[in-house]
Amino acid sequence: MEFKTIKGFRDILPDETATWQHLDREARRLLAAFGFRELKPPLLERTDLFSRSIGEETDIVAKEMYSFPDRKGRMLTLRPEATASVVRAYIQHRLYDEQPTQKLFTIGPMFRHERPQKGRFRQFHQIDVEIIGDPGPRSDAELIVVAMEFLRRLELAEVSLLINSLGCPACRPGFRTDLTRYLARRSDSLCGDCQRRADTNPLRVFDCKVPGCRQVVSDAPSILRFLCDDCQTHLSAVEEYLESLGISFHLNHKLVRGLDYYTRTAFEIQTDRLGSQNAILGGGRYDGLVKKLGGPDHPGIGFAIGVERLVTLLDEGQKKTPAVPELYIADLGPAAARSAFRWAHALRGCGIWVEISYDAKGLKAQMRKADRLRAKRVLIVGDDELAAGRGILRDMRTKAQREVDLDHVVETLKGEILSP
Ligand code: HAM
Repeated sequence: MEFKTIKGFRDILPDETATWQHLDREARRLLAAFGFRELKPPLLERTDLFSRSIGEETDIVAKEMYSFPDRKGRMLTLRPEATASVVRAYIQHRLYDEQPTQKLFTIGPMFRHERPQKGRFRQFHQIDVEIIGDPGPRSDAELIVVAMEFLRRLELAEVSLLINSLGCPACRPGFRTDLTRYLARRSDSLCGDCQRRADTNPLRVFDCKVPGCRQVVSDAPSILRFLCDDCQTHLSAVEEYLESLGISFHLNHKLVRGLDYYTRTAFEIQTDRLGSQNAILGGGRYDGLVKKLGGPDHPGIGFAIGVERLVTLLDEGQKKTPAVPELYIADLGPAAARSAFRWAHALRGCGIWVEISYDAKGLKAQMRKADRLRAKRVLIVGDDELAAGRGILRDMRTKAQREVDLDHVVETLKGEILSP
């Protein structure tokens, strides 16, 4: 029997992880400067946490969740996104008691049973960032700044920031009624799914990729015309904050999101370089969600970055060259092997990547191994060199060789490698 990863799931191999680590480091550094703290919720939660927050009528809840009963028959789900879990934790641990506004992030895998394609997986990773407890609009702008700044630091150009307002319970129903009426008159031109959505969740029609539906929504009413004064003022303030930092954006009234908890600000950052899965990240405000999940009436806003999509973009551009060993110690003879083992331990203790041979092999074989590992230098020590107290240090790039005093070899190498 041959075991392989299941469809839509994949191994991230050692050659790829350098980029992942780079992203992780940059994200953590940036988020710390903005005062975000890490929260690590479990991957498994009660199914109704997600159905209640994301919405029964969404594709995620209706078709894409990995849900199953546990041994006691309770329905559990592998998280399809992180916001619901972060909000659950905020309520469960009363994080708001400690500080009214919580700035949190979490990084890890999410699971959605979607049709796999380029940039779309069934297990994928997100960097999820949330501000819970602040009504905005400054926190809206700050979050968008975090997202844009992250991409800028990664030197990802050619991205577009799209912003919309999805209104609030006061003004969205008016838009919904108008849109439903508009779609009902054009029902024959909609795909089967959208004919159903036109009643249950009409905003979702904006997201449909079927040409007929795209044609219908091209002239659809704009939610921006229906915003109440408070939502309009909020949106204008977000725009002003972004403009004050010179961040350009497109106001796009057709931008909707695949999750039902959003109110007011919704945004996405897209690129042309990923084919149809063009969203690098998406997010928005969810002012009713904390209350809906049983907490106080606190507002929230957040976004999540799709890490696989970011890795693809980075790898196309400036691939991180994988790290290589600073030193390989080629030892010949039992006494030299023992010394090599000790020296390697001392240098590794200083954070230097050192490789040694694990079995007694000749010099040629060891030099071949050092070459394959792309070690920067090789220290060659046989029992004779050990007795004389002089080893040979070879620079693998220039091929230059010199003698080194083995009594002080750790200090010498440490100095050379750490402060070249
Ligand atoms: P989302 O738009 O569903 O939002 O996902 C955010 C990002 O995750 C997408 O823009 C995309 O880059 C990535 N992504 C989504 N599905 C897949 C997939 N199947 N394969 C690869 N990447 C994928 C959310 O998840 C919200 N929880 C974001 C949020 C946080 N809103 C408020 N706070």
